[in-house]
Order: sequence, then structure tokens, then C-alpha cells
Amino acid sequence: MYPQQLLAPIKSFLNCETPDEWVEEAIKPENFSMILLDHLICELKASQSAMYLIRKYAVDKESGDALLEWLKPFELYVYKREGNWRDLASKNRLTKSVIPKSDSPYGQELIDKMVLLIKEELHHFYQVLEMMDHYGVEYKSITPSRYAKGMLKHVKTHEPDTLIDKLICGAYIEARSCERFAKLAPHVDKRLGDFYISLLRSEARHYQDYLELAQSISPEDITAKVEHFGKVEAELILSPDNDFKFHSGIPAK
Ligand SMILES: [Fe+2]
Ligand SMILES: [Fe+2]
Repeated sequence: MYPQQLLAPIKSFLNCETPDEWVEEAIKPENFSMILLDHLICELKASQSAMYLIRKYAVDKESGDALLEWLKPFELYVYKREGNWRDLASKNRLTKSVIPKSDSPYGQELIDKMVLLIKEELHHFYQVLEMMDHYGVEYKSITPSRYAKGMLKHVKTHEPDTLIDKLICGAYIEARSCERFAKLAPHVDKRLGDFYISLLRSEARHYQDYLELAQSISPEDITAKVEHFGKVEAELILSPDNDFKFHSGIPAK
């Protein structure tokens, strides 16, 4: 499938396109490292939040612990600077099968979709490290942008709405990432642009997975909720933002 076909449903899902001002800022040489570093952290965050959802809603402690073990070398690299990044490629594996706990109303569908998603996000994480190595970008810690937090503060505090809302936020984050990779691809070095295009397919599927899970868990139609988060997301993308990041708003002059 060509990028344009992958992008069509994403563009109609998102309430706004990424403004040109953000693209112009993102392709400035001085922001090159920030985009890669923030992308790296976004891949880890994506796997962490998917893992959190499985552990909270779907599995017993033993399976939860096996999941945490899977993520550990990646987290140690980012938070403690421990280990050699090249070794992470061989560490992207889950050593035990993850089984739903008997009283989980969500069960296997959530586990299967999220385990595959985590695997892919950790692979992307490794691929971003390869890009950083290629372009000579050193890893350093950066502060999170306002974007995810700005959406998550609208998440309801009672179940099952909390889970449904978080899944919808996940769908928007994936869809926006996909749209931004496509926006950046024509303006960057070919190797990086090809990498961005290679990410479109899985990120487009991730957004669908999150939405399908949200609808299958919800006792009601989720359209109104999706529209609500769509407006919140677009507001974060279209309002001025001093902190330039991968998911930031319009760069404040
Ligand atoms: Fe990813
Ligand atoms: Fe993703």
C-alpha cells in the first residue's frame, strides 16, 4: 500500500493537519537532534503505556513481571545510561507467554494487540538509535512535551471510561505521529526519510488497534468521545507552544 492510501484514514481521523510552521521548524538543522531524541523517547513511551494497560487490566502478577523484564534493558539504557545500545536488538523478546487473568473482562484481544505493538515500538526504538548513530546524535535526556499530558488530563476517572479514554488518546498519538512522519519525510535526508516512510504502516495499524479496542470495550458507541479527544488534540497542535518537540504546537516566535 502506498503512503497516500495509508494516510487517507489518518487524515480524516485527525481534526487538523500539522501546520507548515511546525514543519519549517522541525527541518531546521538546529532541531535535528531534538526531533530524533524526542522520537526515541516517544517510541519507549508508546511501549510503556501499552505495557501499563496490559498489566493493569489484563494479566496476573507473574505475566506482569515477565512483561516488565522485557522492557527493563530499554529503560535502563534511557534512564540510567546502562548497557550498549547495539545489544538492545537481541533483547526485544518476551520470555513467557502472557495469559489473561481469569477475572479480566478485557482479556486476550487487549493482550495480543498490545504485545505486538510493544514489540514493534521497541524495534522502532532500536531503529531510531541506529539513525542517531548514523547521524552522530548523542543520547541525552530531554523533558516531555505538553502533548500527551494535555490529552490525558481529559481522561475520565471511573472505569471503564478511564481505559476507553486512554485507548482513544493512544489512537490520536499514533495517528499524529504517522501524519508527522509523512510530513517530514520529503524534507529530510533520504535515509531518514525512508525510515519515516517505513514507520507509516505500523503506526497506521497501531491507531486502528487502539480505536478498535476502545470500541470493543465500551458498552456504548465511542463516536462522541473520539470527537471530544479530536478537538483537544487539535487544540494542542494548533495553539502556540514554546517547547519545540515532535508533538508540539505552533512554534511560538
Ligand atoms: Fe513506533
Ligand atoms: Fe506506534
